[in-house]
Amino acid sequence: MGRYYRVTFKTMIFLVFLQGTAVVLFHSWFIHLSVSESPPQGKVHVLLLSSWRSGSSFLGQVFSQHSSVFYLMEPAWHVWSNVEKPSAKLLRMAVRDLMRSLFKCDFSVMDSYLPENYNVSTLFAWTDSRALCAPPACSLTVTNTTLCQDKCDAQGLLKAEKACNIYSHVVLKEVRFFELESLYPLLQDPSLDLRIIHLVRDPRAVMNSREASRKAFVLDSSIVLEQKETPLYMVQYKVLQKICHSHIRINERAVLKPPPFLKGRYKMIRYEDLTRNPLKEINELYEFVGLEMTSGMGEWIYKKTHGMGKGTKKQAFQITSRNASLVSQAWRTRLPFYKVKRVQEVCKEAMELLGYRTVDNLKEQRKLDIDLLTPKEPYLFNWRPA
Ligand SMILES: *[C@@H]1O[C@H](CO)[C@@H](O)[C@H](O)[C@H]1NC(C)=O
Ligand SMILES: *[C@@H]1O[C@H](CO)[C@@H](O)[C@H](O)[C@H]1NC(C)=O
Ligand SMILES: *[C@@H]1O[C@H](CO)[C@@H](O)[C@H](O)[C@H]1NC(C)=O
Repeated sequence: MGRYYRVTFKTMIFLVFLQGTAVVLFHSWFIHLSVSESPPQGKVHVLLLSSWRSGSSFLGQVFSQHSSVFYLMEPAWHVWSNVEKPSAKLLRMAVRDLMRSLFKCDFSVMDSYLPENYNVSTLFAWTDSRALCAPPACSLTVTNTTLCQDKCDAQGLLKAEKACNIYSHVVLKEVRFFELESLYPLLQDPSLDLRIIHLVRDPRAVMNSREASRKAFVLDSSIVLEQKETPLYMVQYKVLQKICHSHIRINERAVLKPPPFLKGRYKMIRYEDLTRNPLKEINELYEFVGLEMTSGMGEWIYKKTHGMGKGTKKQAFQITSRNASLVSQAWRTRLPFYKVKRVQEVCKEAMELLGYRTVDNLKEQRKLDIDLLTPKEPYLFNWRPA
């Protein structure tokens, strides 16, 4: 009997020990699980969602130049330009998955879209990413795209991955999204902290800018129009119509009827507000994604918006606050009224939603002191983080 009890006692101790171990193991497994499921060290992922000729290159630089940001411009270009008979709808999920991997700094996804033995320089507009031109991706310590081009190329993307991993913010700029629904899995992914900044611009100004470089848009336009046969004179309007429609659809999803996981994660900005008041608007954007306005960035923004940045290829807007509206209103003097009228027809709903006033005749169009921008205050463009 005594012996029997002793065994039971030992067994009990053993069981208690076993249970304790199990609790500890389970606990650490659980902690491990919750750690690996949340964004590493509070990393923030930002999608700059825009459309062609809407000032997104400039906005991209506003982020790329920040010392806490790893930035890539248009990674989805690789998808769109590598698939036969592409259409925007067909490529939507491929683009989404590419972005998910890139946000997580897994660059192996690029294998599918890059030629064999690729270099960092194979990435679209790679020198636009300050982070790819600085340690640890490159030994260069000054910000200079010409020098970056010469000195920062490397085989493979391992260094780019390494760089991506050390920054607190990964920012991707895309003009190739026409809806938000395909991004829902990213918004619900616990290992991502995704914020979406949606940049829009007056479609008449977009039209004016597209007209100036029609040829550049042939491939993209056919993808946007799903390869449908479209008479040449209608292509621009049809594309603009799609873009305008996407503004409405995205705004409806994000602002009017947002699913719970979208609240606090979407912010819309108008290019015109950005040009009229760059520092204020950029401050708000930084706040939205949790970036500090540094003195270096303040200086950079001042230089860029006052046309003082020398040596860069094309200034996004060489303007002062006094003539900012003149520059973003170039369409009013350049576009013939019949084109303006046509754009206003295909984009009517979006223009109303975004606060762009229509003009009724050429006289109104040319009279630059009539302000066609409705102040943004009455518009609900975003959900502020709680
Ligand atoms: C790739 O980068 C390496 C290292 O900088 C360089 O030697 C090589 O010429 C580059 N290859 C291409 C195709 O650019
Ligand atoms: C970048 O470096 C090149 C070559 O050294 C130099 O000629 C150029 O002025 C530099 N650009 C800027 C903006 O500093
Ligand atoms: C805006 O002002 C700047 C500085 O005064 C000037 O260089 C630029 O030409 C002006 N732009 C227009 C469109 O008037």
